[in-house]
Amino acid sequence: MNPSKHLLIKTINHEKVDRTPIWIMRQAGRYLPEYIRTKNKAGGFMGLIRNPELACEVTMQPLARYSLDSAILFSDILVVADMFEMNLRFEDKVGPIFDNPLRTESDLSALPNELDVSKLSYVNETIKNIKTELKDSLPLIGFIGSPWTVATYLVEGNSTKKFTHIKNMMTSNQNLLEKILEMITKGSIDYVNEQIKHGVDALMIFDTWGGLLSKDQYYNFSIKYIENIISSTNTSHVPIIYYSRSKSNFDMLKNMGIDCVGISSENNLGDIYQSLDKKIAVQGNFNPDILREDKSLIKKEVVRTLESFPYESGHVFNLGSGITPDIDPDKVSYLVEQVHEISSK
Ligand code: CP3
Repeated sequence: MNPSKHLLIKTINHEKVDRTPIWIMRQAGRYLPEYIRTKNKAGGFMGLIRNPELACEVTMQPLARYSLDSAILFSDILVVADMFEMNLRFEDKVGPIFDNPLRTESDLSALPNELDVSKLSYVNETIKNIKTELKDSLPLIGFIGSPWTVATYLVEGNSTKKFTHIKNMMTSNQNLLEKILEMITKGSIDYVNEQIKHGVDALMIFDTWGGLLSKDQYYNFSIKYIENIISSTNTSHVPIIYYSRSKSNFDMLKNMGIDCVGISSENNLGDIYQSLDKKIAVQGNFNPDILREDKSLIKKEVVRTLESFPYESGHVFNLGSGITPDIDPDKVSYLVEQVHEISSK
């Protein structure tokens, strides 16, 4: 890995640091009034993602408010579906919707044979704009969804929490599921290479729904495809952060080529760090619900989170899952200040 001046990257590399870096999952989002304004100007979430000027603007919004240690590309894991010519739309209070989900062989054969990554060129433009704005003052995290997690949306067609269709496919038509996972993997390899070429400094892989799977299934339907993406892309100088809401199966992550693991709030940072032989940095895992409480409780929880990682370097402070729209932005200021102050003591 190349040396970096950025606190985030140094921490992931286990270099000595003066304090714990912090960024926030969904840091550019609906809890910020300026985000809502820009989103309305863009005509909604998809319009915002597809507009490189406005997507850059919202990426920068949380950085103007808070002393965060990284930017994250403003986009979504589901834009990869542009390469499959599947129409993605978002509805307020419903989330992502694919009107023609992939449930049968003929659904799949209706998609293009050749995947064309230039359909995602608006993301490259956004990355270029953000890099220009940042002037290398902070690193930029790019990201993809894991093939498994993306597949849950392509097959279900929406954000159902039941996962009926994909679970059914796993038993009744494993071959079709594998073809879908291979297609997403192939597209993701090209897409990751484009993000790296355009200058992202780290890459996060969101395997949000990896935790639905049993140990064997987890390897066969999720990890295996991620390993393929990592080994087929030019990530040697770009640290990889892997995130799942999983509560178990962490030992599977030892050999997959990741540098940092994002951990949800029900897990203990130090325990997982130890179980991964202290070789993979950890990111997390402040409970976002605590941001609804008063400042004394927020502080207490910051102390607890920092104390759960009693090592010199290798912890990136973050939430255990994305920040929700109901959070008061002032509470986020307080959180960031406390992490700066307490971790530098
Ligand atoms: O973290 C960031 O600030 C970067 C941008 C980002 C978004 N989504 C923007 C977004 C990232 C990294 C994601 C990842 C993502 N998207 C995941 C994995 C992480 C996780 O949350 O578990 C998943 C599963 C998705 C798919 C997705 N996008 C869903 C299910 C939803 C609806 C639910 C929700 O949280 O609103 C989205 C919408 C979404 N993605 C919003 C934002 C800012 C809100 C949309 C709006 O403003 O209307």
